[in-house]
Amino acid sequence: MTKRTYGNEYGFQTRAVHTGNDVDGETGAIKRPITMANSYELPYDPTAMNWSSAAGNLYTRNGGSNQKYLQEKIASLEGGEDCIVLSSGVAALSGLFFALLESGDHVIFSSVTYIAVYRLLHELLNNKFHVETTIVDTSDLEAVRKAVRPNTKLIHIETPGNPTLTVSDIRAIAEIAHENGVLLSVDNTFASPFNQRPIELGADFSIESLTKYINGHGDAMGGSITGKKEYLDIIRAQSQINLGGTISPFNAWLIMRGSVTLPLRMRQHNENALAAAKWLEAQPCVSFVAYPGLPGSDGYETALSQMAPGFGGVLSFGLKADHDTHNRFVSQLKVITSAVSLGHDESLIVFLGEEDERQYLYPEKFHNGFFRFSVGIEDIEDIIGDLRQAMEKTGLL
Ligand SMILES: Cc1ncc(COP(=O)(O)O)c(C=O)c1O
Repeated sequence: MTKRTYGNEYGFQTRAVHTGNDVDGETGAIKRPITMANSYELPYDPTAMNWSSAAGNLYTRNGGSNQKYLQEKIASLEGGEDCIVLSSGVAALSGLFFALLESGDHVIFSSVTYIAVYRLLHELLNNKFHVETTIVDTSDLEAVRKAVRPNTKLIHIETPGNPTLTVSDIRAIAEIAHENGVLLSVDNTFASPFNQRPIELGADFSIESLTKYINGHGDAMGGSITGKKEYLDIIRAQSQINLGGTISPFNAWLIMRGSVTLPLRMRQHNENALAAAKWLEAQPCVSFVAYPGLPGSDGYETALSQMAPGFGGVLSFGLKADHDTHNRFVSQLKVITSAVSLGHDESLIVFLGEEDERQYLYPEKFHNGFFRFSVGIEDIEDIIGDLRQAMEKTGLL
């Protein structure tokens, strides 16, 4: 049996199905098994071994087989040289920051990011290790350019950003970064590599919370960093083997399985979210809808130039209603579940109230409380029907 490899001569969907899988050498099973063992047999004389090595099979914290299969697939889907899969999206983000940044380095990051990025960079690394930070609206290229300092090491952006869906221009920011000898990392979780591939657009690193679209079924956590091997070797040594954010083999296997249908699910997410955004926009009780796929919306042109074939499944919207009416609306939903996370097969909604500590960083329309809505792959008639009946029961329609 020869190992089957699937290079870029194969399409995205074929690679989502096949890359990282092979016929199992021992049993002939057409799916590779889950290897839960945490240790592998040592050679006759192990004394010369490097116990912190990721090469070969030694100990699962240094790298297990299911993790490696998944890394092969994600690297291929992202169009990157190498990939590290870790225990969560936050493990990927913290692993990248910890390995790349040193005391006295400066980081520029988007004013709209997942909360842990703000905590990691602006509070933890800043306070504990004197990493300097500047928070910038990265949809404004001039602001990014102006924020660069001689000691800037990294620009970190999230596009579309959580929770306002703000879009930043990856190509243009990669140019600014590289002109100044700075690295660019992009959190690609909201788009997934089906819709957007940051490395092909010039970024140095693409980060995914695999917990979201790539797993897609809401039943496992993981994160990935894709980029050049020269950096990933350092990140693997420091942040996986020595900090220990390794993914469990079972979760790697679950994500591997979920990722097979990523292209099919993303097509449906893209279609459903656009339809839901258009429907919401037409309702008099809705104060705003933020979705990068809405023609004429902020960031639409940039999104069009870097996201294809669609704009993802997450949108945000506001209601012309008081605080309690938002909660009453959610309590009437039957198809859409009130829960954090996003990118699951099912629709999820979360009410982000008026008191968010980072609100000063968001456009004003987000200051009165709003919903982040992760549109699932259910029938769109049922999703819109659910929104409508909940609005009717709450007296909004
Ligand atoms: C954009 C983004 N990045 C990273 C994360 C963190 O991922 P995880 O929850 O897998 O640690 C999230 C979680 O919601 C997210 O929305």
